[in-house]
Amino acid sequence: MCAAEDHEPKGLGRGDRLPRIVTPPPGPEARRLAALLDLHEAPGVNTLPTAFSAQAGDKGPILWLRARGANVLDVDGNRYLDLTAGFGVAAVGHRHPRVVAAARRQAGELLHGLGDVHAHPLRVELARRLCDWAPVDDPRVYFAVSGSDAVEVALKTAALATGKSGVLCFDPGYHGLTLGALSVTSRPAFRQPFENRLAPRTIHRLDFGCPSSTIEQALGAATIGAAIVEPVVGREGVLLPPRGWLPGLAALCRRHGVLLIADEIFTGFGRTGSRFAVDHEGVRPDLLCCGKALGGGLPIAAAIGRAEVMECWRTTGEPLHTATHLANPVSCGCAIAVLDLLAEEELVERAAALASLLARRLANYADRPAVKDVRGRGLLWGIEVDRRETAHAWVKAALERGLLLLAGGPQGRVLQLCPPLTITQRQLFAALDLLDDAALGVPRVSRR
Ligand SMILES: Cc1ncc(COP(=O)(O)O)c(C=O)c1O
Repeated sequence: MCAAEDHEPKGLGRGDRLPRIVTPPPGPEARRLAALLDLHEAPGVNTLPTAFSAQAGDKGPILWLRARGANVLDVDGNRYLDLTAGFGVAAVGHRHPRVVAAARRQAGELLHGLGDVHAHPLRVELARRLCDWAPVDDPRVYFAVSGSDAVEVALKTAALATGKSGVLCFDPGYHGLTLGALSVTSRPAFRQPFENRLAPRTIHRLDFGCPSSTIEQALGAATIGAAIVEPVVGREGVLLPPRGWLPGLAALCRRHGVLLIADEIFTGFGRTGSRFAVDHEGVRPDLLCCGKALGGGLPIAAAIGRAEVMECWRTTGEPLHTATHLANPVSCGCAIAVLDLLAEEELVERAAALASLLARRLANYADRPAVKDVRGRGLLWGIEVDRRETAHAWVKAALERGLLLLAGGPQGRVLQLCPPLTITQRQLFAALDLLDDAALGVPRVSRR
């Protein structure tokens, strides 16, 4: 049992509170720490006092002190509603007591194992549990440390299993920024500085949702061993494929002996109102990548593939892909707690139920001239606006009212709503009211 204060950190209760802004963000402490960070950390990845400058996108310069449920408290005492779920990690909410208890329990036993050399019991249990969860036939789990790492595993699996280096991927799509994952990520700004390291001749990029005849033509190239796809595009603009497109892609891959990799790092574990986004259309990929929500806040990810495909990794020597922190015991313990919670609290069903409520409320935005589209599934929604500056101003106005949200998509024009699956209805309604209010406070959103 954890101490009460661990369950209910000061100012956050059970994480079911509404926002409270006591100092306009960024407050003085945020500014002080951000300036200090700037002195010591490499540029580009940190939170700077100038973060709301036009170039910096929506990196609001606040610093998180505590979080619980759907609430985040910043270093200046402001309480927010987190509509990012921490990049989709906090599906069961921030610091769920069961996840914290699992971390504590495991921290008292074993903090670190011997990766690929000596396993530990929780790794055995988590591998079994993931095999039960994944919509993959006769599944085998390959653990990874991050989402990008899981994508690397999947791409390497395809190369080993098929002997072909070619990969079909889709635009837009985000699969991570390590070199292999970056090679299939679409955004030019991420790719261009490293273009000569990305084996461009092996990568075939098509539009997400393109006609099946185009896919068929590309798969005809004898060099392609795998197709990688986000079943619902997340960071790159919350895009749903046309109905039937994913099953069509799966069928074409099967026909051409190409392995289908579903990147469910964002969409997995209930985010779209089903266990995995491929479940909406009954697609069973050859490989599935997952991460983010799995660890409940601790880093862990996996590529899960058909046993026949994963057989390619069997070796009598050193593993061909591994990492020091592979299947960390504390992360495994937290992941098991997350899987328990998703089932016991029926969070997947909850995401599906809250989707219709969100859809109804967000439909109002369709009338606003600056809003180009509203779309989503489960608890992953996007509001596409006319310009990056509009999105940026809306995100800023929302932050000032106590809402954390991000703008994504290739041009940063899509506001992402991605709350914890545990967000209360009261919080969700309040968030939507504040979002309206923020839109009204942003002249560009309501004008023209
Ligand atoms: C679909 C998808 N794939 C891969 C990744 C990369 O995961 P990570 O940032 O954990 O490396 C992300 C991260 O946002 C993602 O959304």
